[in-house]
Amino acid sequence: KVWESFKPKLGRVDLSTKSQLHPQACFKVAVLGAAGGIGQPLSLLIKMSPLVSALHLYDIANVKGVAADLSHCNTPAQVLGFTGESELANSLKGVDLVVIPAGIPRKPGMTGDDLFNVNASIVKSLVEAVADNAPDAFIHIISNPVNSTVPIAAEVLKQKGVYDPKKLFGVTTLDVVRANTFVAQKKNLRLMDVDVPVIGGHSGITILPLLSRTQPLVLINNKETEELTARIQNAGTEVVEAKAGAGSATLSMAYAAARFVESSLRALDGDGDVYECAYVQSDLTEIPFFASRVKIGRKGVQALMASDVLEMSDYESEKLAALKPELMASIEKGVAFVHEQT
Ligand code: NAI
Repeated sequence: KVWESFKPKLGRVDLSTKSQLHPQACFKVAVLGAAGGIGQPLSLLIKMSPLVSALHLYDIANVKGVAADLSHCNTPAQVLGFTGESELANSLKGVDLVVIPAGIPRKPGMTGDDLFNVNASIVKSLVEAVADNAPDAFIHIISNPVNSTVPIAAEVLKQKGVYDPKKLFGVTTLDVVRANTFVAQKKNLRLMDVDVPVIGGHSGITILPLLSRTQPLVLINNKETEELTARIQNAGTEVVEAKAGAGSATLSMAYAAARFVESSLRALDGDGDVYECAYVQSDLTEIPFFASRVKIGRKGVQALMASDVLEMSDYESEKLAALKPELMASIEKGVAFVHEQT
């Protein structure tokens, strides 16, 4: 039952593919950065999934205790802890899905560059290990700045000769979760019914909630649209400031990432009805990586949902034009980072 709440509400339902659900949990998941603020609650939520048979927790420190603790929960996944670089390869062997929340979170006053410099190196080295040890796995990148860390991961995978653009995802689910929550509050709707597609990228003005395409159909006037858009774009800062130096969003992020993991596992399991927003390689616009609703299947991204981009309001079209230069610059920065290192 608890997983029902992770299931996104769907605009279009594809009934052509019958689900072939396995009778038992059968997927192996690795969390890299599992001892962190996001990693711990995310690992707990993944441990609750009925689809997971093995949960591998990797971190540079303090992960054995987290693994021992979670291993006592009476759900199917067998939990194993892996500490330090010497155990990284083993944590990835035979894994179907890798989630990466490793890295430093944003603190008040921190610039985007401060975050980039540390997290770019962490993501690069972890994705190298994924390429060597789990080249067919779905990869979910949480480490910020996602707008750059996903292109970094793509370049690393290309260099290793194992890049499959359909299996690399930047996790933007938190933007959708926030948009759904804020819209439901503002319009007094039942939370579980609301679904707002969020496209573009995953920071500041690159986050573009398509409020005109909210389901169920609801009238959101211009003033409300501006207020809600600004709140969704700045929601991360709301949490960073409230935590006053103790980090960024961890619990809501873990919730959102667990939903995306569960959706991906359902897709791997043959459910033909899985749609989520994610930041992926894309040809919906001229920007090579772009968040949109995607249909996920056994082999990863099966289709990009073009209708959102084609049928947006004038306000959203303007915002889309405005975000493109910033998103493109972040992508180029990520690509350049990998090429400078080689
Ligand atoms: P945290 O500092 O609490 O945890 C990070 C963990 O990563 C620590 O346990 C640390 O030991 C580990 N780590 C560092 N280097 C590592 C390496 N080379 N290999 C494996 N593990 C390593 O940080 P928190 O709050 O969990 O945030 C993690 C990341 O997630 C940050 O980059 C943050 O900006 C990002 N984030 C992303 C969001 C999204 O919507 N995609 C939302 C919120 C945060």
